[in-house]
Amino acid sequence: MLKNGSDSYGLVSKLLHWTIALLTLGLVALGAYMVELGYYDAGYYETRDWHKSLGLIVLVCAGLFIGWKAVSPSPPLPATMSRLQRGAANGAHHLLYLMMFVLPVTGYIITTAEAKPVPMFGLFSIPAFFVVSDFVRDLATEVHEWCAYGTAVLAAGHAGAALKHQFIDRDGILSRMLWR
Ligand code: HEM
Ligand code: HEM
Repeated sequence: MLKNGSDSYGLVSKLLHWTIALLTLGLVALGAYMVELGYYDAGYYETRDWHKSLGLIVLVCAGLFIGWKAVSPSPPLPATMSRLQRGAANGAHHLLYLMMFVLPVTGYIITTAEAKPVPMFGLFSIPAFFVVSDFVRDLATEVHEWCAYGTAVLAAGHAGAALKHQFIDRDGILSRMLWR
């Protein structure tokens, strides 16, 4: 089923969620690796170009994920969860949604600060639509770094909660994002 059901996610949401999840976690690792590379190390440019292209794919997927949610609402959290648990889950989801936009947008600002375009897999480029001051670029760099590592921590908590629901509470929260 393409659309979300009353107690299960549909194929579109599942594909978008897992694409975003894998790319985001992969980009945190790639980002941490690439910033350690020196200017003359092999892969200095290639890792950065892949990071930027894949990062903008996250932005596209995030737009589609939210757009699709408006067309086909998510299944409600089970009534067996307490109000506190539901509030924590919703809060974490909202923060994760926010990060799907903050990370690519700050990455775009850092990259285009010197009016450089963003290469997309060597196929085409996204131009620098505006040029910011050094202050804004440095602020974007700080926000990008803090939010990236913060997202990894948040996603670990989010994944841990999904595993707890699946294997301890046995309310099928993980399976409705996987196979149900
Ligand atoms: C979900 C998307 C993204 C994630 C999770 C992510 C994650 C990261 C991480 C972990 C770092 C290393 C930070 C550090 O230790 O200093 C980094 C650096 C960087 N990212 Fe991203 N990033 C994303 C998207 C993007 C996009 C779309 C662009 C550009 C279009 C971009 C451009 C950069 C640049 C230029 C750096 C290096 C900054 C520096 O030299 O200090 N990122 N990113
Ligand atoms: C291995 C890591 C991950 C696992 C195991 C996981 C698992 C899940 C599960 C089971 C749900 C459905 C919850 C429900 O049934 O109500 C969910 C929802 C969600 N996940 Fe993840 N996730 C992971 C990583 C991520 C990452 C990295 C992000 C964002 C960058 C993310 C963003 C979201 C969002 C926004 C929702 C809420 C969807 C909605 O609005 O209904 N997840 N996740």
